[in-house]
Amino acid sequence: MTKTVSIERPDNLPRHLAIIMDGNGRWAKRRFMPRIMGHRQGAKTVKEIVTAVRELDIPYLTLYAFSKENWSRPREEVDALMDLLYDYLQKEVDELLGNRIRLRAIGELDRLPPRVKTLLFDTMEKTSKNFEMQLILALSYGSRSEITEAARKIAQKCVDGELTPSQIDEELFASYLYTSDIPDPDLIIRTSGEQRLSNFLLYQAAYSEFYITQTLWPDFDRKELLKALHDYSRRERRFGKTSEQILLRCTGSES
Ligand code: FPP
Repeated sequence: MTKTVSIERPDNLPRHLAIIMDGNGRWAKRRFMPRIMGHRQGAKTVKEIVTAVRELDIPYLTLYAFSKENWSRPREEVDALMDLLYDYLQKEVDELLGNRIRLRAIGELDRLPPRVKTLLFDTMEKTSKNFEMQLILALSYGSRSEITEAARKIAQKCVDGELTPSQIDEELFASYLYTSDIPDPDLIIRTSGEQRLSNFLLYQAAYSEFYITQTLWPDFDRKELLKALHDYSRRERRFGKTSEQILLRCTGSES
């Protein structure tokens, strides 16, 4: 690891942390800068948070980097975001390899500009043997279309006689999502204070914990990350059960 800073590790960490990185535009606006400056600073935050998550040994980190809806932003902002993504992949590949981080991506990747797509697939291939941590970039990602696409594929299998409707259960459905081999997010952080999911991991977030901070993404640092993780570590996740049932399971007294 190139930069090791000692950080106090909470006891109970999420296995899968997902982050809705929001507030780049406002960060720039407050400084009378163009929006792209906020995204540029946001890319620096990505680097810092990836390093911190790796140091904390959290095995899965998903970052909502570009939504399907983001394609409708002004052309120059979309182009600038694609350039930033390209630069990130180009500059960070050695860091990812050195830290044994596997890069993955979920979303409609065919819509990415060819040079970005090529570099993305190349980086995913190069890092594919890394198992310590998976960094999953949600790119051109939209949860509703992910779910619709899964439904369409399952329906086609039924039409083709490869599946019967009675075989369709939650497990089978989840296996048709981009995240088929990725555990559901335990914690979803959203920066900049908005309280919504914005079409992010709608199916997978059924039992995720949420943490919303007013901090804008470019200002989100490892101290802020630790604050969120400490908050998470104090929560009781019941998955619909009672506190007593959870306690019994933790003490091993449940038969
Ligand atoms: C939302 O903030 C952020 C985005 C749409 C893009 C996120 C991109 C980055 C953090 C940088 C590039 C990513 C990588 C992986 C290198 P916003 O622009 O909607 O902020 P606002 O709500 O304040 O306008």
